[in-house]
Amino acid sequence: MPPQNPLRNEPLLTIAKPDIRVVRRDDIERVALLEQASFKDPYPSYFLSELARDNPETFIVATLNDDIVGYAVVDRWEDHDHLISIAVRPDSRRRGLGESLLLELEKRLSKDRPLRLEVRQSNFSAIRLYLKNGFQRTGLTGGYYADGEDAIIMEKTLVKETLLESQSIPSV
Ligand SMILES: CC(C)(COP(=O)(O)OP(=O)(O)OC[C@H]1O[C@@H](n2cnc3c(N)ncnc32)[C@H](O)[C@@H]1OP(=O)(O)O)[C@@H](O)C(=O)NCCC(=O)NCCS
Repeated sequence: MPPQNPLRNEPLLTIAKPDIRVVRRDDIERVALLEQASFKDPYPSYFLSELARDNPETFIVATLNDDIVGYAVVDRWEDHDHLISIAVRPDSRRRGLGESLLLELEKRLSKDRPLRLEVRQSNFSAIRLYLKNGFQRTGLTGGYYADGEDAIIMEKTLVKETLLESQSIPSV
């Protein structure tokens, strides 16, 4: 039975919240569909499978009622961590999900390595998302994408939690 509103004796309206978890093998085909709905040049499923195999802790999906509504993956490169992809299903955008995925990834990453990414110069929403979350523009790669568009390179130095936040305060 759904929870009741004690004042009116009516069921409470509960708004479902997406859940974020690590990817499973049987998610890959649905992540590939999300890629296709989100990018001009989507990654194929075999590449997504390789990323999931190599990054079991930093390939995450957001689910809502068992549907995949977002995903993001960071790959470990030699001198930095690289945000390979982040996407939210078109009907679930502008609700904070992209930001939640980014924050969840950051929690999972080593704070000793920068987090870097490329983004299309025309991708206003993604650039805004990254700037809002502390990324800075560090460069430009001409003709990076298959259609010739330039990529902006952005980077963030992750910050260790402060002593006060990371220490539990003993009770007296
Ligand atoms: C980029 C993307 C992942 C953002 O996901 P989202 O869930 O809609 O983003 P959020 O709701 O968490 O937004 C967080 C912030 O990003 C910025 N932002 C996101 N979408 C925006 C838009 N359409 N216009 C302007 N700013 C936007 C805003 O600063 C926003 O903060 P605010 O709501 O306080 O203004 C989503 O638009 C997407 O999947 N795009 C297609 C795939 C893609 O381009 N990925 C990036 C590859 S580099």
